[in-house]
Amino acid sequence: MKMSYIVAIDGPAGAGKGTITKLVAKDMGLVSIDTGMLYRCHALAVLKNNISITNEKEVVDILEKIDIDLRNNDNKQLVFLNGEDVTNQIRTPEVSSIVSQTSTFPKVREKITQLERKIGYKWLKEGKNIIMEGRDITTVVFPDAKVKIYLDATPIERAKRRCRQNKKNGINQSFEEVLQSIMARDKNDMNKAVGALKKAPDAIYVDSSKSSVNKTKHKIIRIIKQKTNEGKRSVRNDNYKKNIKSNR
Ligand code: DC
Repeated sequence: MKMSYIVAIDGPAGAGKGTITKLVAKDMGLVSIDTGMLYRCHALAVLKNNISITNEKEVVDILEKIDIDLRNNDNKQLVFLNGEDVTNQIRTPEVSSIVSQTSTFPKVREKITQLERKIGYKWLKEGKNIIMEGRDITTVVFPDAKVKIYLDATPIERAKRRCRQNKKNGINQSFEEVLQSIMARDKNDMNKAVGALKKAPDAIYVDSSKSSVNKTKHKIIRIIKQKTNEGKRSVRNDNYKKNIKSNR
């Protein structure tokens, strides 16, 4: 029987993980899981409940009182907070400005890591292959994933992309503001005590700065095919070697 596999992708804000992951999932029939949505949903709950982001106890405790649910609708992922669809609300600059801090607390990361694994295993049990993207998927959540990728781009390129995305979503922010916020988030994301953004030693580094979305997508599809066919190829090679021996 064919085993289901996990593709884990990490990288900084605006590197194209979201776009690329969805496109690769669509082309290859994988279930795509954007884990930033879980951290954003928790940050939204912090805002809605007027909790100060420096109050670690309340920021952590709110997770016990809320229900976060990710649903896949066609190729679109939706997130529900206590039954309410908050897919658009989690993308506001207010949420973006606090999420890299609310996601710093180790107890928050512990809970959301558990949720990510639960979501991942649920799909694997159903026989689906998954592609999960975030900051610590290759290092903490699924360090044994079959395919591990670190997707990167320069801060200027990432700020340009985020500006275009904001424009589409009706969010008004200057290029300078976006660049500053990206650099601040990089700093927070890379310096967390637990779950810091870093390249796993065995992750494949892909720089998307100078590549079109299509080119990056194909590059990642090639990597996935190569890695997931490895098992098949080595079994075939083993059988081939055995056959040679027994026919001598
Ligand atoms: O991918 P994103 O920009 O939507 O993620 C929002 C924030 O969530 C980001 O600043 C860092 C945090 N995050 C995290 O700490 N770990 C993850 N696996 C995913 C996101």
